[in-house]
Amino acid sequence: MTDPNLRVLIPADKIRSRIRELGEQISRDYPTGNLHMICILKGATYFMADLSRAMRRDVFVDFMGISSYGKAKRSSGEVKVTKDLDISLEGASVLIVEDIVDSGVTLNYLMNLLEQRRPESIRIAALLDKPERRVSPVHVHYVGFQIPDQFVVGYGLDYAEKYRNLDDICVLDGAAE
Ligand code: IMP
Ligand code: MG
Repeated sequence: MTDPNLRVLIPADKIRSRIRELGEQISRDYPTGNLHMICILKGATYFMADLSRAMRRDVFVDFMGISSYGKAKRSSGEVKVTKDLDISLEGASVLIVEDIVDSGVTLNYLMNLLEQRRPESIRIAALLDKPERRVSPVHVHYVGFQIPDQFVVGYGLDYAEKYRNLDDICVLDGAAE
């Protein structure tokens, strides 16, 4: 795809090898017990598909839909669940699988929500992290890549629902966030 507004930031082969490393690391950290991987729709679906296959152990996979309200309201922490989980988390080790941590508002809200369901533990795996943008504290245990404060698309990430199916992660120039 040739689009003058796109510049490759992380090529597909680097994404692939980093996810393989993450899968091995996470598998070592959870040698036993039930591990529930929870994919945050829709951006994390590509990461989930590859990370779950990089795991060297059995996992449960489940999906959760979250929508953040408009820009002004996002920092107030107003987040809505649009699709809830199918499987109970009681007593399970939970791994939230997210595409990108930006302000941290979404994950901060989600951690609080899922903690109420009495899992054994909760950790976060995020493919991308933009630490400069953080407004809500959130501890991300597994990070694929730290990136600068730029708007990125591809490998699941979108701009107005476009560009998710790019193989590479690209900076989108001129995106009005
Ligand atoms: P947060 O609550 O600000 O951390 O929002 C995280 C969500 O914002 C992510 O799950 C993405 O859906 C979206 N997001 C943040 N930065 C980007 C980006 O650079 N490209 C595409 N989506 C982004
Ligand atoms: Mg998202």
